[in-house]
Amino acid sequence: MNTRIHIGPLALAPGAALAPMAGFTDAAQRRLAARWGASFTVSEMVSAKALTLGDKKSPRLIENGENCAPYGVQLFGAEPDTMAQAAELIAGYAFDFYDINMGCPAPKITGSGAGSALMKDPALAGRIAAAVVKAAGSRPVTVKMRIGWDEDTITAVELAKRCEDAGVALLAVHGRTRAEMYHPGIHPEWIAAVKQAVRIPVLANGDISTAQQALDLLSATGCDGVMVGRGALGAPWLFAQIKAALEGREIPPAPGLAERMSLLRGQVADMVAEKGEYVAMSQARSSAIYYMRGLPGAPSLRRACCQLSSMADLDALIERILRENPDR
Ligand SMILES: Cc1cc2nc3c(=O)[nH]c(=O)nc-3n(C[C@H](O)[C@H](O)[C@H](O)COP(=O)(O)O)c2cc1C
Repeated sequence: MNTRIHIGPLALAPGAALAPMAGFTDAAQRRLAARWGASFTVSEMVSAKALTLGDKKSPRLIENGENCAPYGVQLFGAEPDTMAQAAELIAGYAFDFYDINMGCPAPKITGSGAGSALMKDPALAGRIAAAVVKAAGSRPVTVKMRIGWDEDTITAVELAKRCEDAGVALLAVHGRTRAEMYHPGIHPEWIAAVKQAVRIPVLANGDISTAQQALDLLSATGCDGVMVGRGALGAPWLFAQIKAALEGREIPPAPGLAERMSLLRGQVADMVAEKGEYVAMSQARSSAIYYMRGLPGAPSLRRACCQLSSMADLDALIERILRENPDR
């Protein structure tokens, strides 16, 4: 199996990439994934239009790219000129490549023609890709896409070819249409069709939460690698497990409860250091819920996570969890 992937001139270490996730893949999440062996990480999506209008919050989503493995900034937009202008505006930040969002299904994004709405217009998607590639200079450009808009509009192969022709260096394909949002299961055969149609590296994405599932998706699609989103939330060790599986090594076990809680604390402390406690804790609530997976009393723990408003609250919750689960 060829596990060495390149994004243009960037050689990636073997492993799974961390998928971009709005509200989750901040610097703390990216650094954690990188530490556990993610091959690259991507920011939360950033609005090209907001950047060009001088929005003050958007640049915060891009900052702190250090120690995030090769790190890509994801832009979304529906106009080639605006996307190119945004790409130029952020050129001074520390990041390694640009990524273009052609997969987001949220109505507020698709309503403006961006995200997965581009799956309906591969020609426009190609023009956007070409504009960003030109503006990106020496930095490579990747694209994150779905397989189509709905079952009557499966455009993945055409869109992928147009992106390749425009100079895109790597594609990550979430194997669902926009209409399918996040259910039912993915369509590996359409990811495979993209892989067959282009020469640039293709990553398969969707529903991976174990190392075996990563291997299975690789063999079902023939892809060069995998990208993991939700499966890695609250479980950063999944990157080490997938890396071991790709390298043919024994898969390391998941850490015990005490280490899991210490990872949660470390991640939230990192968020607080960067954004201040007030902003960090509102985001930390959703991240913390993922660390509760598999624990007894999940509904009560979820409620407790939703009420976290300080590091002291988090410490009290962790203490309670360790007390109630002495054998884990
Ligand atoms: C909460 C959440 C936020 C997401 N935000 C983004 C985003 O900003 N950009 C993007 O391209 N995809 C986004 N996605 C899609 C993921 O990158 C990924 O394609 C999808 O979750 C399927 O992979 P998974 O099953 O491994 O999670 C998001 C998904 C979730 C669940």
